[in-house]
Amino acid sequence: MKITVVGAGAVGATCADNIARRQLAEELVILDIKPGFAEGKALDITQTASLCGFDTRVTGVTNDYAATAGSDVVVITSGIPRKPGMTREELIGTNAKIVEGVCKSTLEYSPNAIIVVISNPMDTMTYLALKSTGLPKNRIIGMGGILDSARFKCYLQKELNCSQNDLQATVVGGHGDTTMIPLTRLASLNGTPVHNLLSEETLKKVAADTMVGGATLTGLLGTSAWYAPGAAGAELVESIVRNQKKVFPCCVSLEGEYGQNDICLGVPVVIGSNGWESIIDFKLNEEEMAAFNKSADAVRNMNAVLSTIVA
Ligand code: 2OP
Repeated sequence: MKITVVGAGAVGATCADNIARRQLAEELVILDIKPGFAEGKALDITQTASLCGFDTRVTGVTNDYAATAGSDVVVITSGIPRKPGMTREELIGTNAKIVEGVCKSTLEYSPNAIIVVISNPMDTMTYLALKSTGLPKNRIIGMGGILDSARFKCYLQKELNCSQNDLQATVVGGHGDTTMIPLTRLASLNGTPVHNLLSEETLKKVAADTMVGGATLTGLLGTSAWYAPGAAGAELVESIVRNQKKVFPCCVSLEGEYGQNDICLGVPVVIGSNGWESIIDFKLNEEEMAAFNKSADAVRNMNAVLSTIVA
């Protein structure tokens, strides 16, 4: 198994670190355009091998796509992160050209790779990856919902004083401050609906905090977060390389599912060695469906901007 992470910034390097620690591949390549940067991150991660107990060979390269040849999974984290006060959507002008170029160069050397998109605005970058590569839809997966769901669990845990690992909580829709939909109706503590345990007002606050989870961190850190995004990326890669068939909310191409077409948006999918393998119908109620449609409209408007940026 060979995995490439493109972009050695904080999210890419943390994702690579998690991939190495979980020993998801024999070979892990980190690629960046900044000379020496990926090499440095790879060497630093490699020096944790005896401390963390992994044998994955980690190499870093400067824009040398030949070194990524034959990758089974490619994780794209390239692009600029947001600064405090910025939305993910404001990054589109810079990141669209970068992501399109990365997809093209990557596939030249790894034509069979499954592509995981983390770059923002993630829903639109996933759509761009799908359209610009022409790959089968199951091989293009946007990572946002796993991260948003982890944040949802974090805020639920604070209210319930429970283990986050006992929580089932899913965020669907777009990976944007106003487009994501924490599904409080379906959230549970080991099967007990959280509605039985928390007030409506508390649940509304949990959902609101979840939606601005990334922005809160950007405000605190001065740039976007990396520990949870990197770990969420590795969680997705693990289900692919170990063929775990885990159900995660991921951004995938919809062809009629959830009432949408010609868009990539977050829905629960089964993740295995073929990429995303099927979509699970959560049977959203009327209110959730209305929120999903609104989210789709916002993402579609963002996708329309692509034609003014890339060919
Ligand atoms: C976040 O929400 C980077 O989009 C990522 O933190």
